[in-house]
Amino acid sequence: MKITVAPSILAADFARLGEQVKSVEEAGAEVLHIDVMDGHFVPNISIGPVVIESLRKVSDLWFDVHLMIEKPEQYIETFAKAGANHITVSLEATRHIHRIIQQIKSLGLSAGVALNPATPLELLTYIIQELDMVLLMTVNPGFGGQEFISGVLPKIVALSEILKEVNPECQIEVDGGINVDTARLVSRAGANILVAGSAVFAKPSPGQAMKDILRAASEEAK
Ligand code: DX5
Ligand code: ZN
Repeated sequence: MKITVAPSILAADFARLGEQVKSVEEAGAEVLHIDVMDGHFVPNISIGPVVIESLRKVSDLWFDVHLMIEKPEQYIETFAKAGANHITVSLEATRHIHRIIQQIKSLGLSAGVALNPATPLELLTYIIQELDMVLLMTVNPGFGGQEFISGVLPKIVALSEILKEVNPECQIEVDGGINVDTARLVSRAGANILVAGSAVFAKPSPGQAMKDILRAASEEAK
């Protein structure tokens, strides 16, 4: 499957957000990863729908909205209206993952489920055929700039084996601690959408940094 690097705006300079998004768009980005945190599901607060609405006016990128919030079912429609193309919900944040996935798809968006590092793949068994994406967290969610958890690598390999059998079109996204070095590891393991925050936006040239990660990952892709 095609390898994509999805810059995460969590690490961007929010005073120059439009400009920063443009810089990765001009460098060839196709996906923009947008982290929504509520201070409850994760111990940090980030941005909400109004920011997405503003970005939608200046960018044609595919908005990959990563919800790290409790009661996500209450906000799906709001994020769809704000301009999301895709919504990923944290499995651990809801008792009703099947219902939410249907809700996202009924609005015409693509749908994903995120798993924290310690959450087993088995919990996806009866939903996996419905999914457009599985997001395996490679850090504990909540903050940018954390160290990659290499214990998730066998989980990526296992997921990629399962998907070959049951849902080959489903994308495997990884998020947290991705840089030029870890990009090689996750790509080799079978991930195809690589979220990168600080390894892109904390660099002097975010566009170039994104390209470097993409090149490294593509060299290892199966
Ligand atoms: C963390 C977020 C990530 C974050 C990644 O909870 O979901 O998307 O932006 O940041 P880095 O790439 O700096 O680890
Ligand atoms: Zn994220």
